[in-house]
Amino acid sequence: MYSVTACQGLHLSSSVKYRNMFVSVFLIWLFVLFIFILFKSQRPKNFPPGPPILPVLGNLLNLNLENPLKDFDRLSKSYGKVFSVYIGPKPAVVINGLKAIKEAIVIKAADFSGRPQDLFVNDVTKRKGVILADYGPSWREHRRFALMTLRNFGLGKKSMENRINDEIQYTIKTLESSIGKTLSPRVMFHNAASNIICQVLFGTRYEYDDDMIKVIVQCFTENTRIANGPWAMIYDSLPIIHNLPLPFRKAFKNAEICENYVIHLVNEFKKTRVPGEPRHFVDCYLDELEKRGDDGSSFSEAQLIIYSLDLHFAGTDTTSNTLLTGFLYLMNYPHVQGMPVFSVGAIHFGRTF
Ligand code: HEM
Repeated sequence: MYSVTACQGLHLSSSVKYRNMFVSVFLIWLFVLFIFILFKSQRPKNFPPGPPILPVLGNLLNLNLENPLKDFDRLSKSYGKVFSVYIGPKPAVVINGLKAIKEAIVIKAADFSGRPQDLFVNDVTKRKGVILADYGPSWREHRRFALMTLRNFGLGKKSMENRINDEIQYTIKTLESSIGKTLSPRVMFHNAASNIICQVLFGTRYEYDDDMIKVIVQCFTENTRIANGPWAMIYDSLPIIHNLPLPFRKAFKNAEICENYVIHLVNEFKKTRVPGEPRHFVDCYLDELEKRGDDGSSFSEAQLIIYSLDLHFAGTDTTSNTLLTGFLYLMNYPHVQGMPVFSVGAIHFGRTF
């Protein structure tokens, strides 16, 4: 009887000892983690100044996740034209004002040509294509190919102007058939811009109620909203949530839908193409793929799919949003309506490329 009690007492005291030991180890681990996070939350030496950084969250609490532009403006008043913020654990440098921007992207262009590859948009586009590609051989090869091929198909030339004028007839028809009704100018301009670039990429103009254009434009619009919204910023800040079923998953689904459309188109083109006689951008790329064979270049069919979507998107969202902004100004300042001059394409292709 006594010996059993003694034994139980022994067990009890050793389990208390183990528990205390576990609590101590846990507290030490927590302390080390805290010091590590605190240390990591300091700006590196010579890094631009900025607001104090919180562990894990960085400066997220200093920013309006819906639209941080006003916050950047406010922070630049305290920290100067070049300052830094932490988006969660990731450092970012914000450049304000023409002089600083010119120095970064014109004078020191090569130093600033890289693009981050660990963001939400990179995962959605599988790190392929051109518009978000990092500075390196793949970006250089695809940029050069885009510049040359788009020009061959009329970009920046009279033939493109004719194509735009033809498309405008459909826009006028849309407007005329909508008299007395409501209409989304965003969808209208997206459809028009998308159709112009579709003719270059796929050699086809689509009716506005065609599934191809309807679905792709809808996916582009939705993905732009998600990529510029709070969920993309949360995704970028917290890698641990990447695989969770949260609202940003919709962007991956949309990208997959668009990819499937283009995969289908490319497969159809492969059946009817005549090598060396390209009908459109995709045919040119297929010719280039054949020409290069296994030369170890960055050209591949998987690239072609995202590349076409990239160019489709680059030519649609930007053009449409520029037109929307222009028309908004014209509506607000009616006295300039008689003298609008749009030469968006000419400016863009003169400067960016
Ligand atoms: C109003 C219309 C447009 C605007 C405001 C616009 C704006 C821009 C900007 C700001 C960039 C630089 C992005 C960066 O370096 O991160 C860019 C790049 C690019 N744009 Fe446009 N764009 C327009 C129309 C177009 C059109 C019609 C196309 C044709 C498909 C196009 C194709 C591209 C491509 C391929 C790049 C990537 C160039 C590179 O990586 O060097 N853009 N655009």
